[in-house]
Amino acid sequence: MTLIEDTKTKQYEKPDFSKFENKAATAPAYFSVYDLHAYYGESYIVQGVSFTVHEGEILALLGRNGAGKTSTLRAIARLDSPQATHGEIWLDHKHLHTMNSHQAAIAGIQLVPEDRRIIPGLTVEENLQLAQIIEPIGWSLERVYELFPRLGERRKQEGVTLSGGEQQMLAIARALCRDIKVLLLDEPYEGLAPVIVDEIEKTLNIIKEQGITTVIVEQNAIRALMLADRAVILDTGTVVFDGTAQDVLDNEALRAEYLAI
Ligand SMILES: Nc1ncnc2c1ncn2[C@@H]1O[C@H](COP(=O)(O)OP(=O)(O)OP(=O)(O)O)[C@@H](O)[C@H]1O
Ligand SMILES: [Mg+2]
Repeated sequence: MTLIEDTKTKQYEKPDFSKFENKAATAPAYFSVYDLHAYYGESYIVQGVSFTVHEGEILALLGRNGAGKTSTLRAIARLDSPQATHGEIWLDHKHLHTMNSHQAAIAGIQLVPEDRRIIPGLTVEENLQLAQIIEPIGWSLERVYELFPRLGERRKQEGVTLSGGEQQMLAIARALCRDIKVLLLDEPYEGLAPVIVDEIEKTLNIIKEQGITTVIVEQNAIRALMLADRAVILDTGTVVFDGTAQDVLDNEALRAEYLAI
C-alpha cells in the first residue's frame, strides 16, 4: 500500500505495525530507524526516514528549519504527535514501533525536548527524583552531581530559576536518571553562550564514554558535527545525506545546500 493511498483511505489512523519485520539492516544495528513516516493530522511530515546508529555513537541529525528534525525525534520517542503511520524503530533488538511513549522510555529512549520541560515549583533535586519514581532507574543523584557539579551546588534551588545552560544540564541529567540507552537531544545548545556549549559538549563526551548512544539535533551544525561521529541530513522529511561528520565538515557544497553554513 502506498502512502498516497494511505492518506486517501485514512488508513494511517490505524497503523498496523505487526506485519513488519526487521528490515532495518541485514544484521540489526544497535539502534535503527527504517522507512519512518509520520503525520500531523493531514500534514505528511516525516517522509520515509531511515538511519542506523551504532552503540555508543553520537549521530548529528541536521537540516534547515522545518526539515523535520524535531518531528523525527518525536516520532522515534513514540509521542502521539506526529503520528507515525509506517516504519520500524529498533533498539537493541526491541521494536519500539509497536510501543507507546511510556514503553519506549522504559526500553531506553529519552527525549530531551527543545524547551527542556523543567517542572516549576520543584527544586533541582526534586526534578531529578521525579525521574526516578518509576523503574527502571538509571544514574544515582551522586553520579549525576559528579557529572554536573553545578547541579549539585544548586540542588535546593527551584529548577526553573536556573540559567539556560544549567536548565539544559538538568534536562540531560534527568534523562540519565532513567535507565537510558539512547539520548535524543533537540537543540541542546540553543541560546547558550559558547563557553556553556563547551561545558555541555564535555559532558556529552563523558556520557558517550559510558556507552550511551546519542542523537543530537542542532542548528549550530558545526558544533554538532565536531562532537558527532556520523551525520544524517534531512530535507523536507527525507534523508539527503548519511555519512561521517567529517564528510560534512569537508563538503562545503553539501553544507551550503542543506545547512546554509
Ligand atoms: N504540531 C504541528 N502541526 C502541524 N505541522 C507541524 C507541527 N509541528 C511541526 N509542523 C511542521 O512540520 C514540519 C517540520 O517541523 P519540525 O519542527 O520537525 O522541523 P525542524 O527540522 O525541527 O525545524 P527547526 O529547525 O525549525 O526546529 C514544518 O513544516 C512544520 O511547520
Ligand atoms: Mg526543531
